[in-house]
Amino acid sequence: MSDLLQIGNPNERPMPPKAEDLDLKFSDNAIAELDSLKSHYPNWKACILPGLWIAQREYDGMLTDAAIAEVAYRLKRSAAEVQGVATFYSMYNTQHNPGRHKIEVCTCLSCHFNSAYRLRDYISAKLGIGNKETTADGMFMLEEVECLNACDRAPVVQVGDQYYGPVDEKMIDELLEKLRNSEESTVVKMADQIVQVQLKAEERKGVLA
Ligand code: FES
Repeated sequence: MSDLLQIGNPNERPMPPKAEDLDLKFSDNAIAELDSLKSHYPNWKACILPGLWIAQREYDGMLTDAAIAEVAYRLKRSAAEVQGVATFYSMYNTQHNPGRHKIEVCTCLSCHFNSAYRLRDYISAKLGIGNKETTADGMFMLEEVECLNACDRAPVVQVGDQYYGPVDEKMIDELLEKLRNSEESTVVKMADQIVQVQLKAEERKGVLA
């Protein structure tokens, strides 16, 4: 190993949080899911991304400091390391409360040419919130996003795992009404779907190994 790679004393690195300092929230089922995923990775560090998806579901869609600390505790990493991973990826909700339904409006080139900003302003006015803001009742968050890779359907809006496009004001009205009357949180549902897909993928790998 080169000298460069040996810089720093491993014993002085930040330690994982301790259970007694945390208000742990993972359900028994979530712990079992994480244990199952951990067993498929060469080390627990590699399991941070799946662990964060479980946490995003268990913490009602948002990776709060407490959620990040719980992932760090369960994977024996420092909270700073887990936070560094979580804040790198835009699909993890670390900065803004996503509400029950995160309305993601693509304003990239194709959507921009097809009135995406007009639609964004329409949603903004209808909900009374700006970009990356959440309605007072915690129902909706609005976020401008980069290309959703569905340019042939521009302008495109994503809610949870569903794409809608091409959308217009009437469709937006109908969509918001449908979401308002829905019992489920599309944010939490999508996190759970991703966890389930990862579990199935790891199961398949186990069968093929
Ligand atoms: S530019 Fe909007 S989906 Fe590609």
